[in-house]
Amino acid sequence: MKINKVGVMGFGLMGSGIAQVSAESGYETIIKEVDQKFIDKGFKQIDGLLKRAVEKGKITQDRKESILRKISATTQMEKLRDCDLIIEAITEDLQLKKELFKEIDRICKKDCILASNTSSLVITEMAVVTSRPEKFVGLHFFNPVPVMNLVEVVKTILSSAETFSAAYDFIKSLGKVPIVAKDTSGFLVNRLLNPYLLDAIRAVEEGWASVQDIDNAMKLACGYPMGPLTLLDFVGIDTVYRASSVYYEEYKDKKYAPPPLLKKMVLAGYHGRKTGKGFYDYTVDPPRVTDLIF
Ligand code: 3HC
Repeated sequence: MKINKVGVMGFGLMGSGIAQVSAESGYETIIKEVDQKFIDKGFKQIDGLLKRAVEKGKITQDRKESILRKISATTQMEKLRDCDLIIEAITEDLQLKKELFKEIDRICKKDCILASNTSSLVITEMAVVTSRPEKFVGLHFFNPVPVMNLVEVVKTILSSAETFSAAYDFIKSLGKVPIVAKDTSGFLVNRLLNPYLLDAIRAVEEGWASVQDIDNAMKLACGYPMGPLTLLDFVGIDTVYRASSVYYEEYKDKKYAPPPLLKKMVLAGYHGRKTGKGFYDYTVDPPRVTDLIF
């Protein structure tokens, strides 16, 4: 199974990162989005990161341009017809993902591998709506994709050994480190990370310490690059709420139960960096802790 052309469905934070690393590794990469405005935004994100890399002297202007030449984008699903691998990175909505996979399954060539970058859903649920569950795997990247080296490669009980090994080798060819993950909601990393993040929210709710001190404590004591509350803002408060709700539903284990403060922040629109406010207020420079009254 030779992978030459990669399709990415969704040009958000994860999709643009996946497209960037795919193009950087020499794959012809095509992105499918629903609207031109998301395409423009995705290209702006990649262009900005590559521009910074040129300014820092990490890559040449020529290299930047050759990476960008490898990437195209479309609003028409048919254009993904000749891809060898298609990675879905749309919003975490099972119904939407299933619809999308049904459609792409009808369009793309018979031997194309399909993959989802879901962070919370079970891969088998999506694989079984296609006519090729043996050619379906999970490829779970981490944010920011160009920086984070790990990718969870998820084998379902239906994935063929050949498909899995092609997907695993593809991840290695990106210069990333693949690990074999089971098809359980949250796979490995999020099942470990999520309870830690939720505990940090409970610590805020219960007043163990201030937001800043909780973050500094975990950064300085454990050497983490970001404290848990900064990381929550970075990943997205709404994303973590949605994922926790899925894990809680799946495992019925209290450690995944979304704390009330998390839900209130979602309702208030405090979704973290992307909305300008979460545990910190990013509308001011430098960001300061948001007043949370609960
Ligand atoms: N995209 C691409 N590159 C980025 C970036 C971004 N959004 N943000 C930073 N970088 C690059 C910078 O260009 C810089 O590259 P260089 O070393 O080649 O110059 C490097 O990362 C370091 O950046 P900075 O010096 O600006 O800032 P930091 O040293 O604070 O690093 C960070 C930023 C890499 C985001 C770091 O804080 C970090 O590792 N944070 C933790 C991230 C994490 O835990 N991610 C996993 C989240 S969980 C998840 O993704 C699961 C999913 O299912 C939700």
